[in-house]
Amino acid sequence: MPPNRQRPLTRRRLLQLTGASTLGALAGCGSQLPGSDDDEGREVTPRSTVTSEPDSSVSLTAGAGTIQPGPDVSTSNWLYDEQFPGPELRVQEGDVLSVELTNDLEAETTIHWHGVPVPNPVDGVPGVTQEPIAPGETFEYRFRAEPAGTYFYHSHVGLQLDRGLLGPLIVEERDPHVEYDREYVVVLDDYLPDEPQLPSDGGRGGGGMGGGMGGGGMMGDVRPPYDGLLINGRLPEDPQTFGVTEGERIRFRFVNAGSATVFGVRIAGHEMTVTHADGRPVDPVDVDSFAFGAGERYDVVVEATNPGRWFVQADALDGNEPPARAVVEYEGTDGTNTPQVPSSPGDQLQYSDLQAISSLDGVSGSPDRTFDLTLSRGGGQSYTWTIDGQTYPDADPLRIRPGEHVRIRMTNQSPVVHPMHLHGHFFQVGNAVKDTVMVPGHRGQVTLDFHADNPGRWLFHCHNLYHLDAGMARIVKYVE
Ligand code: C2O
Ligand code: CU
Repeated sequence: MPPNRQRPLTRRRLLQLTGASTLGALAGCGSQLPGSDDDEGREVTPRSTVTSEPDSSVSLTAGAGTIQPGPDVSTSNWLYDEQFPGPELRVQEGDVLSVELTNDLEAETTIHWHGVPVPNPVDGVPGVTQEPIAPGETFEYRFRAEPAGTYFYHSHVGLQLDRGLLGPLIVEERDPHVEYDREYVVVLDDYLPDEPQLPSDGGRGGGGMGGGMGGGGMMGDVRPPYDGLLINGRLPEDPQTFGVTEGERIRFRFVNAGSATVFGVRIAGHEMTVTHADGRPVDPVDVDSFAFGAGERYDVVVEATNPGRWFVQADALDGNEPPARAVVEYEGTDGTNTPQVPSSPGDQLQYSDLQAISSLDGVSGSPDRTFDLTLSRGGGQSYTWTIDGQTYPDADPLRIRPGEHVRIRMTNQSPVVHPMHLHGHFFQVGNAVKDTVMVPGHRGQVTLDFHADNPGRWLFHCHNLYHLDAGMARIVKYVE
């Protein structure tokens, strides 16, 4: 920057000027793009975007639309291609995928490719990796779809994810380590009929937002006023049917695309063999149930050896809505039989059960850099969530250098779970390789390790959308 040029607005300054408190409100500010805060060490240039011809080209339109999650329910939402969830994008591992997003909304938007280690300029974080896409504009995201796995895509502007701007992204492996005959994608979501907003009274009084972890209180949290839980966009009154044939092995790809829900998942009458965590292959492990937070994914294989009609059921572990449901129906069963409900949670998956087939490179031995971070509820009147006492965007970046083995140790000083997500990288947690990990409440501790192999500015944040919007995020920034 030439010495006589006026210093661009910092995020802190911008906040003071506008009184803005949400990411969405900041989205329009061009001064937030890389290069604006050169007082913090020289920034390392991100890996550039992919320029080769795409193997697969898709156009998506974000716009208003109507959803019908149940027989007598319809609400207007914000959707991709008027579908809910958005269209499934499916490509082969290593393919170059090009997605042209047209913004037909009345607000700015972006897409984030959750879990895919894309080049920084197409990561979709407004004000950090790109200018948000203005109404009426089109933006092309182009990246190599790898590694294979179950991912999803969603808007990264403000609270737009909870309006319905989400969809699955499947990158098929060339050589799966498990056999299966058929697969289904199962997108779990919490259903908000109204426009999402942060709790206005600071979330401490409980207000009209009931449920959740005791409905508020000084240290707890309030739950958005959800009107139910969804599997593939449908309420339990109108469940989707997954047809199976006896003897088949069925792969289910579960995506927690909810904004504020930890789901506990079971399939009545069947054991599940967990084969992938956040898309990454693991040694198969048999369980009766698993719990996962917003942003996590699990693939399971189920042997169809128990003819009948059975519920796939997902309970909100932090809410009291009736569970989300779909039906596994064997070919030849009477479709009018009432499906069976799952029994007790039985054997539950633990993170310590997960053993990645290939561990991460660059994270053995002791780390080059360690961050100890405390996750907690902010003080004061407004609804805030903090990392080490700071509220994003008014927060220091975590500075790292290319090639480093970076460790982040988190301690959760609040009573609620925080599913923490790192953009642009996988991390090692125990023997698993993931991109999102739940840090349990009441002083829960989780340590993750990653290899700094993807320069740029990456968001690290809680994937509870309300916690993110209320400040629970940091930028991980590569410097020299
Ligand atoms: Cu799926 Cu920054 O998030
Ligand atoms: Cu959180």
